[in-house]
Amino acid sequence: MVAPIRKAVFPAAGLGTRFLPATKAQPKEMLVLVDKPVIQYGVEEAAQSGVPNIIIVTGRGKNAIEDHFDVAVELESFLTQRGKTAQLEEIRKIARAINVAYVRQGEPLGLGHAVLVTKNLVGNEPFAVILGDDVIDANPPALRQMIDVYERLDGPVLAVERVPREAVSSYGIVAFDDTENLGKGVYRVKDLVEKPRVEDAPSNLAIIGRYILTPDIFAALEATASDRTGEIQLTDGLRRLLKERPIYVCEIDGVRHDTGNKLGFLKALVYFALQRPELAVPFREYLESLDLKIGAGR
Ligand code: G1P
Repeated sequence: MVAPIRKAVFPAAGLGTRFLPATKAQPKEMLVLVDKPVIQYGVEEAAQSGVPNIIIVTGRGKNAIEDHFDVAVELESFLTQRGKTAQLEEIRKIARAINVAYVRQGEPLGLGHAVLVTKNLVGNEPFAVILGDDVIDANPPALRQMIDVYERLDGPVLAVERVPREAVSSYGIVAFDDTENLGKGVYRVKDLVEKPRVEDAPSNLAIIGRYILTPDIFAALEATASDRTGEIQLTDGLRRLLKERPIYVCEIDGVRHDTGNKLGFLKALVYFALQRPELAVPFREYLESLDLKIGAGR
């Protein structure tokens, strides 16, 4: 039996400059897709994948995240008095399903550093990392698909997706071995490179924001130098770890939205709104009524 995945780390200390001014006084993780903050999609995915312990890496100005996952006593008694049981159930559900711990990153020194500050909270056990910007609609949930691979192969598993060649410089890119038969969409990693130039990329298989890591990643990250922007990259830590143990990637069967940029965010908003039974019909009608010629619709 492999050690179970009990904890999921959510790096959430980033400044969210792409969404200014919306993120001036509000964490970007709290931007709303229909009626749920982006980070809640990831937290629900972890819970639905059987991982109830959430570690959120925060920084200054992120208090709204802590309030969101806390019990809201006044709100609950207000909703109880008014008999608003559906809303009451909705806000209680997530708080009951998970345990959350917070740790501060202190300085924004990169994704590898964000993972490193969770070392004491994670301890000596395998764990998941979820980048909340990447919202994945999948059944079974993306993290569950990865845990299934982890349980079979007993090693770190990274979620990947094929991206257009011209997009490789936005991602960690993986060189992989497809001669071994490890299951559909599962490969052994040969090398990894963070945000390569198009001409240097070893493939178009990109790491998307889900990782199952083993605790030896912490020593690897401690030994990893900062890149030229002064950040410690998780990809570089994994590259170091690869010298010591096999690492696997798993193509996720699902739809991923990168909500970390405006266009991706808008696409996700429309996608998830169309999935809501109460919104699907009137929202579709509205979208179909729009004049979609460029410059029209004003
Ligand atoms: C991070 C990682 C990168 C990964 C990406 C997925 O980059 O460093 O390897 O491909 O997340 O979303 P970021 O998007 O934070 O720049």
